[in-house]
Amino acid sequence: MPIRSSVYAACAVVVAALVVGAAAPVAAAPLDPADLGGSAVSGTVAPVAAAPPEATRPGGRSGAVGAPGVDDPFFPLAGNGGIDVQDYDLRLSYNPATDRLEGTATLRIVATQDLRRFDLDLRKFTLGTVTVDGVPAAITRDGQELQITPKRTLRKGAAFTVVVPYAGVPEPVVDPDGSSEGFVPTKDGAVVVNEPQGSPGWYPANDTPRDKATYTIAMTVPRGLTAVGNGALVSQTAAGGRTTFTWRERFPMAPYLTTITLGKFVVTTGRAGGIPTYVAVDPSQARASDPVLRKLPEMVAFLQDLYGQYPFETVGAIVDDAPNVGYALETQTKPAFDRAPDDATLLHELSHQWYGDAVTLRQWPDIWLHEGFATWSEWIWAERHGGQTAQQRFDELAQEPADSYLWNPPPGDPGSPADLFSGSVYDRGAMTLQALRVKIGDPAFFTLMRRWYAEHKYGNVSTPEFVALAQQVSRQDLGAFFTAWLYTPGKPPFLADDGAAAASARLAASEGGGRRR
Ligand code: TRP
Ligand code: ZN
Repeated sequence: MPIRSSVYAACAVVVAALVVGAAAPVAAAPLDPADLGGSAVSGTVAPVAAAPPEATRPGGRSGAVGAPGVDDPFFPLAGNGGIDVQDYDLRLSYNPATDRLEGTATLRIVATQDLRRFDLDLRKFTLGTVTVDGVPAAITRDGQELQITPKRTLRKGAAFTVVVPYAGVPEPVVDPDGSSEGFVPTKDGAVVVNEPQGSPGWYPANDTPRDKATYTIAMTVPRGLTAVGNGALVSQTAAGGRTTFTWRERFPMAPYLTTITLGKFVVTTGRAGGIPTYVAVDPSQARASDPVLRKLPEMVAFLQDLYGQYPFETVGAIVDDAPNVGYALETQTKPAFDRAPDDATLLHELSHQWYGDAVTLRQWPDIWLHEGFATWSEWIWAERHGGQTAQQRFDELAQEPADSYLWNPPPGDPGSPADLFSGSVYDRGAMTLQALRVKIGDPAFFTLMRRWYAEHKYGNVSTPEFVALAQQVSRQDLGAFFTAWLYTPGKPPFLADDGAAAASARLAASEGGGRRR
């Protein structure tokens, strides 16, 4: 009954043996080693079938090689087997005049299997001497795979530290849908957004949303520019005509949600409820964005009431002028905008902090768990603020003809990475939630939304898990419902062009009734 359960059966999460608080010999120690102090929020990685052990090298020790990917259907080489990154410490500098990025990445990692060799993901760049626990390691490179062979085989469960010095001109990563991401130059700096695969364009990462970690990102830029990262600003120091901004995100973060966007910004700090805010706006966007950004505290309060307590320690926004990017992204704690957002876009990206950033997909084809939820969040904001109700929006969309963008690909099965962010994932994904709301009623629906968040905060999820929780909360068999809404191509036959009230009635009839309203 769980949809496509076979796809997911292979990826039951095994909690890796976490070495909580293990001291690693780190030169540049993370600023905040007492991360939350609980294993409940430590990142874990779903296991990957171990590669067959390679023959013992002469004079070496036997051990497995970490797989080059974690079997994501859309990005098979993203992420790596055998490692669970606990913390990233990125010390970087960037000069917009030369477009040169240089720095050192220090990763604290736990081996989830014996490792003779393991990979990180990094595109291009010239490397300095890479070390594992202070000892130079052998390096080979194969596309985005940075293959690291430590002097000694790492044992399963061992904590170790990798240091990667690197430099070069970052190349934006171009996605299958043609969009640019990673470290993307702007007229006064760079906008840094990574969904789904931009991170290896500017730092060595275990680039899978399954491996969340804490981050320190320090960026040195010419005086007059501001570098804005995730989490809290730990320090801002000026020296020799340059300024270093050090940011710390002490909550688990997927690599694609990192940022260190830099440029000329007007910064405003304040509070949203009890949460410290940091909002950075490109001066050219200030006039258009100020009236929208003023609503940020109200939006955070609204989302907390609806879904549960805000998941992180800081909140804010980065509004840049980046027409070459062309989309906004829910970078953790500070969504990044390519231009002044409107109310709906700000609300959308803020709602991703709950659904997307705190509760994160395990595989990219489940993207509707982010985009459908954020789009539906826009609808309920409008409904509760004197605008169109979510049902009115649904009814409007239900009129879309069969050949509309809206119906394909089906949101639960986008089919190709080029369709990851297609309109159907957003709008038909949101319609799925609205149809579910009508089918199970508001009390069950809002309980479901809150429990989904509370039970998976800081973790990873799949669609079958959402279906199972919806069934548990509603005490209804929803298999046919979700198959129709999420996995069946084309306009659902129970939606004719005569509006959703009639459509809902038809759906109920086709399922034998029993629907309450
Ligand atoms: N996830 C972003 C959002 O909030 C959209 C996005 C990220 C995107 N990467 C993209 C859209 C690449 C198009 C292309 O909706
Ligand atoms: Zn979104």
